[in-house]
Amino acid sequence: MKHFLSTSEWSAEDLESLLQLAGELKQNPLNSSLKGRSIALLFLNPSMRTRTSFELGMQQLGGIAIVLQPGKDAWGLEFEAGAIMDGDAEEHIVEAAGVLSRYCDLIGIRAFPSFVDWSKDREDQLIKTLAQHASVPVINMETIVHPCQELAMMQALKDRMGNVAGRKMVLTWTWHPRPLNTAVANSALMIGTKFGMDVTLLCPEPAYLLDSQFMDAARDNAAIMGGAFQVSHDIETAYDGADFVYAKSWGALPFYGRPEQEFELRKKYRHFIVDEEKMALTNNGLFSHCLPLRRNIKATDGVMDAPYCLALEEAENRLHVQKALMMTLLGAEQ
Ligand code: CP
Repeated sequence: MKHFLSTSEWSAEDLESLLQLAGELKQNPLNSSLKGRSIALLFLNPSMRTRTSFELGMQQLGGIAIVLQPGKDAWGLEFEAGAIMDGDAEEHIVEAAGVLSRYCDLIGIRAFPSFVDWSKDREDQLIKTLAQHASVPVINMETIVHPCQELAMMQALKDRMGNVAGRKMVLTWTWHPRPLNTAVANSALMIGTKFGMDVTLLCPEPAYLLDSQFMDAARDNAAIMGGAFQVSHDIETAYDGADFVYAKSWGALPFYGRPEQEFELRKKYRHFIVDEEKMALTNNGLFSHCLPLRRNIKATDGVMDAPYCLALEEAENRLHVQKALMMTLLGAEQ
């Protein structure tokens, strides 16, 4: 049984097939390939795009999605093996996974890291534990990676560029008032290099480098796919000639769990905002962001409203790629 926990477990060919199907579903959105099928969506954190696109996507394929928010409208969950459950959690993931597997054909989970101890969070144990105890495919709706977002971004890029191999992509850190999850940044590195792009990670200083498991994956992908991967701390050099700028803010891992100290570091870097002057350095480059985005903090109004901004296309594509993913995991045909 195949899960979708990270694109690192899927071949470039399989991801291409998913995008091919997503493209067909973009043209013909409705079919009944998942009639009578169901997905349970476990949201441990807030969402707008992910929840809407999964619920709607399943309905457009003839199935049903059940949204559960453990700790709000469903019992709070314990994920630790052997835990003595005398805290807030009423139910263990072992039973929750078993029960949902008996009701539903797929399970999606959003489980952000705890922002306390990166050495623990980097193991992504919650979704792995769910997958271990589920007897149906599990889909990652964002943990320390965001693979559905990766696919949506790549579909938007391919729709505009065609073949993306060899094209120059800059993943730029941006200012934000607090340290955010590294998931989308980790994912952007992995998908860009998996499709053979020449990827530059632009961040203010080494403290903002991403976890070695994702940096190493990007280097490996680049070597296998004939692309490139490098790091830059210089804004002008990184933007120069770029075909695509992808923006995200994230927290400095050496300060993980210490947001006040991290703020002292990040407050110097408000100028990493994506603005029209920086985009003018690119090769008529495209721009995107996963959303939500704080305007005039991460990117200016001028960038967000420009014809080169793909953010809404990328958000729309969440619907198409997730439908393709659900059909593929369930072996359904149109
Ligand atoms: N990009 C994304 O996952 O959006 P939501 O957090 O609104 O689901």
